[in-house]
Amino acid sequence: MTRWVKIFSTVASICTVCRAVMDSVTQTASHAVSTEGETVTLACGYKSTSDNPFLLWYKQRLSKVPVYLLGRAKYGHGDNGTEFSERFQSKLNLSSSSVPLTIRNLQVSDSAVYYCALQPTVTTTPYTPHRKAT
Ligand SMILES: *[C@@H]1O[C@H](CO)[C@@H](O)[C@H](O)[C@H]1NC(C)=O
Ligand SMILES: *[C@@H]1O[C@H](CO)[C@@H](O)[C@H](O)[C@H]1NC(C)=O
Repeated sequence: MTRWVKIFSTVASICTVCRAVMDSVTQTASHAVSTEGETVTLACGYKSTSDNPFLLWYKQRLSKVPVYLLGRAKYGHGDNGTEFSERFQSKLNLSSSSVPLTIRNLQVSDSAVYYCALQPTVTTTPYTPHRKAT
């Protein structure tokens, strides 16, 4: 029996720490219907004034909050989130300014919306939101 896996990808609207207006992700919304065991690659282009952009992928299952999958930077191995699995693969492509996400061996549980987001360069001071209870 064929089990279908529905994949949607879109630009993150959950950008909480965006500072530079010049920086943006240019991923076009797309969707794919695939079958278990297949491999899909989700595209995400970005535009950044930073010389070391940090790109993030999130996954959102139906009626759930987005969960952090992974982050990738120019240098180093990046960061793997709690929802990361060996089946996810992503690497910054500097020549084409993109950070495609490849999901191998698709499972039904991969059916979700995938968001790509850009995080400004991490500075020495970590970003801490301040909100006064008034
Ligand atoms: C994330 O997972 C990939 C694939 O397993 C691995 O190559 C990479 O080193 C991991 N990165 C970190 C920061 O653990
Ligand atoms: C980066 O993107 C270019 C243009 O799409 C492509 O030809 C090249 O193979 C990519 N590099 C990697 C490492 O995927």
